[in-house]
Amino acid sequence: MQRIIKNSRVLVTGGAGFIGSNLAEALLQQDNEIVCLDNFATGKRENIAPFLKSDHFTLIEGDIRDPEACAKACDGIDYVLHQAALGSVPRSINDPITTNDVNISGFLTMLVAARDAKVKRFVYAASSSTYGDSEALPKVEDVIGRPLSPYAVTKYVNELYADVFAKTYGMETIGLRYFNVFGRRQDPYGAYAAVIPKFAIALMKGESPHINGDGTYSRDFTYIENVIQMNQLAATTENKDAINTVYNTAFEERTTLNELFEALRDAMAKSVPAIAVIDATYGENRLGDIPHSLADISKAKSLLGYDPQYSIAQGLNEAAEWYVKNLEV
Ligand SMILES: NC(=O)c1ccc[n+]([C@@H]2O[C@H](COP(=O)([O-])OP(=O)(O)OC[C@H]3O[C@@H](n4cnc5c(N)ncnc54)[C@H](O)[C@@H]3O)[C@@H](O)[C@H]2O)c1
Repeated sequence: MQRIIKNSRVLVTGGAGFIGSNLAEALLQQDNEIVCLDNFATGKRENIAPFLKSDHFTLIEGDIRDPEACAKACDGIDYVLHQAALGSVPRSINDPITTNDVNISGFLTMLVAARDAKVKRFVYAASSSTYGDSEALPKVEDVIGRPLSPYAVTKYVNELYADVFAKTYGMETIGLRYFNVFGRRQDPYGAYAAVIPKFAIALMKGESPHINGDGTYSRDFTYIENVIQMNQLAATTENKDAINTVYNTAFEERTTLNELFEALRDAMAKSVPAIAVIDATYGENRLGDIPHSLADISKAKSLLGYDPQYSIAQGLNEAAEWYVKNLEV
């Protein structure tokens, strides 16, 4: 049986966001006390509305750049699952200062608070963007290139700080390099929405989703359930060789944007048949995007016992069902 987090006090920063709210939901079902620290910069109240009814869920509305809020949030915590950050490569290109401030200063403020509260482990959202301009495929944790965006710089700096805090203060940290995560509650709205929810909302509106480039770029799309598993394995491993390092968090399958579009369209068309005839439109490649991304997940398998349960096709079916039921168009 997979190791899970249970009977623990867990801080999920960014708990009102896509990944954070899914972590909070899963951990609440496993008899944990959840503290959520979020300033709702991109997170949504509706994502956590059902949890607020539980006595085991506490919301601290605050900013990870505020040392007092971080100290309060870390009080009595066993595990920190640090998700709060400003995501999106284009957002960081448009506003590098705010991305730097939240993703680096905020990260450091959280690390200090977690160190002072003597939490058992600090598991944080790293990113596949750290592979930067390295063309090596599949991506292996030790071989990274130079960052291609301010966002990628911030996520790499997170890894450097976590490493230094492990060496200097004896903290236990694990970074999870997420590869294109998708699933329920991923935000389809706004300029910085990710590709799958963006496609989903266009299809629900009966519009043609827009693909940057000719659709041959590929990614290792990773369903949220696999990410929840990785967070739990990282928080609970007792293998000393498995901590103070980073892991690819992915499914290890390459899907082109064209394949993705067709699979999502077909999955959604099962509920809304009119969607079946919609085609995509194509444009220029986006600044800062790498052509291909594919993870090697053998490190997570061997050191953490990672065993992803959801293929991309299974995840897309579940995500499609959720979007069809929940999107307001
Ligand atoms: N979704 C992906 O594919 C992906 C890929 C790689 C890495 N990541 C990382 O995973 C984490 C979660 O991403 P997500 O997709 O759930 O994004 P999200 O935007 O849905 O969630 C981020 C959450 O952090 C909160 N937040 C932002 N700034 C904050 C601040 N200053 N103080 C407190 N809370 C703040 C937001 O309100 C939001 O609830 C991020 O660190 C992101 O960089 C995500």
